[in-house]
Amino acid sequence: MTTALVTGAGGALGRSIALRLASDGHAVAVLDITAAAVEETARLVEKQGGTALPLTVDLRDATAIDGAFARTAEELGPVGILVNNAAVYPSRPFREVPLAEYDDVVAVNQRAYWIAAQAATAQMVPTGGGAIVNIASITMHGGWADLAAYVSTKGAAAALTRALARELGPHEIRVNCVSPGAFPTDAEKIHPDPEEYHRFVLERQSLKRRGRGEELAAVVSFLAGPDASFVTGQTVEVNGGWVMS
Ligand SMILES: NC(=O)c1ccc[n+]([C@@H]2O[C@H](COP(=O)([O-])OP(=O)(O)OC[C@H]3O[C@@H](n4cnc5c(N)ncnc54)[C@H](O)[C@@H]3O)[C@@H](O)[C@H]2O)c1
Repeated sequence: MTTALVTGAGGALGRSIALRLASDGHAVAVLDITAAAVEETARLVEKQGGTALPLTVDLRDATAIDGAFARTAEELGPVGILVNNAAVYPSRPFREVPLAEYDDVVAVNQRAYWIAAQAATAQMVPTGGGAIVNIASITMHGGWADLAAYVSTKGAAAALTRALARELGPHEIRVNCVSPGAFPTDAEKIHPDPEEYHRFVLERQSLKRRGRGEELAAVVSFLAGPDASFVTGQTVEVNGGWVMS
């Protein structure tokens, strides 16, 4: 078993992913900007018998990301699995988005995925390989009004996945992407009417129920694990049959 690092692990889906990777037997470094949330994730991992290292890091800070990887290697061993999951999703009409807000979205959802992948690769190459899983979003397919910056970074996550898979395969590093549909997390609070949004989602999904974080985490676990040893450069849609590809 190896060391996994999950970003945004204080949020709902990141926490589910961290818990699943821990139950797969990996030591998990759980990284988030919110100390209380990430400490709670670490507590839950330890409660189920796992090993967790909570890291309070702002992913807009490249030096802090590198520091987090160095600390993880020191305390848990070199990173063999990276899950780039953290994201911000401010909602605003495209024509009103201040450049500073756009820069912030790109910094967390795109630039940090890049920096973390570089830091992880530096630890994976000497150990003979690893797995990177980038989290995209169903919105990259059909777009979404008032979320243009977010949507564009999610398309970038899928494209980065393919570019890195191509380049890192010779080092036995697999890079895949998971594209979630609509999971009932904090992310949904951007929709003003929860009941209406719930109906909207179920109308579009083939499965007439909401997805659970564990169902997303199971796919991440598969892609990060030995059963996916010949899978790289792929994007897996986990959306209850909303967008089908
Ligand atoms: N929930 C959904 O329906 C849904 C749908 C499609 C895609 N996704 C994707 O799934 C992933 C997880 O989403 P979620 O629903 O759990 O959202 P969430 O908001 O609960 O979790 C995101 C986490 O990222 C952290 N984060 C934000 N900015 C950060 C920064 N600067 N530094 C460090 N951490 C930071 C937040 O603190 C939060 O804990 C995201 O990539 C999101 O785009 C979610």
